[in-house]
Amino acid sequence: MTKFLSVTGGKPLRGCVDISGSKNASLPALAATILTDDKVTLSNIPELEDISIFLKLLTSLGKKISIDSKNCISIEGSLSSIIAPYEYVSAMRASILVLGPLLTKYHKAIVSLPGGCKIGLRPVDLHIKALRQMGAEISQDKGNIEAQCKILNGSEVLFTKVTVTGTQNVLMAAVLGRGATKILNAAIEPEVITLIELLSSMGAQIKLTGTTIYVQGVKKLHGTSFRLGPDRIELATYYLAVAATKGKVEINVSSDSCIKHTLNQLSAVGKADILSNKVKIDFSNAEINPVSFITNVYPGIATDMQPLLCVTNSIANGPSVIKEQIFENRLQHLPELARLGSKYEIQGNEVRFEGGSEYTGTTLNVTDLRAGAALVIGAISAQGKSQIYDYFHILRGYENFIEKLSSLGADIAVN
Ligand code: EPZ
Repeated sequence: MTKFLSVTGGKPLRGCVDISGSKNASLPALAATILTDDKVTLSNIPELEDISIFLKLLTSLGKKISIDSKNCISIEGSLSSIIAPYEYVSAMRASILVLGPLLTKYHKAIVSLPGGCKIGLRPVDLHIKALRQMGAEISQDKGNIEAQCKILNGSEVLFTKVTVTGTQNVLMAAVLGRGATKILNAAIEPEVITLIELLSSMGAQIKLTGTTIYVQGVKKLHGTSFRLGPDRIELATYYLAVAATKGKVEINVSSDSCIKHTLNQLSAVGKADILSNKVKIDFSNAEINPVSFITNVYPGIATDMQPLLCVTNSIANGPSVIKEQIFENRLQHLPELARLGSKYEIQGNEVRFEGGSEYTGTTLNVTDLRAGAALVIGAISAQGKSQIYDYFHILRGYENFIEKLSSLGADIAVN
């Protein structure tokens, strides 16, 4: 019997909720543990599907993993394998992040080619081109990336397209490379900055100037203890869920610079009261404002926020226009939102929302992680009942998603 989420909407969210550690900062941090045999302790790691898959992958490579306490793990030891098998890579694209660390420390890697997903083809050609430039011999055979090198040489790498995991892969390759590497047109998302902070705490020599990352290769990296920051996309998810349900919620989140930036973007939908480690949001008597935007690399509006903002744009007090320019196929949530009652026109990757729609519960299908979160926000703010299928996508990227929403008064349960 296929399980689904059953939701009865129309209840304003009330209460308080904690924001978990950043999924997209945690995944490269796990990959970075390959760069040393010493113990690396990572805290504020969210407990979610993608993280558990990555831990299984590291275990299969030979790493010893201990759960020190909730959201805190230690990883140590040298590897006994350099093969990242399809079963892990196909389940989680971020497994490609082991390629750079394996190459630079073990000089060999076999990583299954990550599949695409609903939001686009998601090639890794830029990762491969940059690593080849650093001296890696890389071939693709039977769906695997087979890579080897005597040593990775410092190089001047120019990314012709900004790539988050591409930047992270090359950064991790460069920290143990021979000589100096310059990464031009690097991604500077907060998740890249966090990786720079982690690697520096392990002894790496890294400097960031604008969108250029300078790395001086070192012989060895040592262990560290490192705390991951909060998840800015999870924050956006709950912020917009409170807006859509006209709720009143306190979100516990430490407001570092990346969080302040995200809150500043979200305040266009409706203001919040930002304190040092809490955000007070009250939409009980506030309008939901439309927000027109084009998704862009940091510090632009993140593509991961686009499906979430489509939900509030549909019911906002006026029209808006959005454009998705990072991924070629990241509008899959729209036909499902239309079933809830959203009114819009699509032209290519541009969407014009009328605003003023009213959601009515219905049957919905989730296509990917952020689309799923968007549909849940739609369903909890709709009048009536909804059934949401393929909700497993959401559990990949949100810690205790159903529990957190239930604790805020949403009527949501697995059936
Ligand atoms: C990261 O994906 C995030 N995932 C994504 O979050 C996020 O949407 C994306 O960055 C953009 O911010 C993780 O960090 C695990 P890209 P990534 O390489 O690195 C093209 C979520 O919901 N490209 O920055 O895979 C690519 O097709 C996920 O948490 C190439 O053409 O994204 C896309 O159009 C979804 N060749 C653009 O660049 C390459 O070799 C940006 O992709 C690499 C990328």
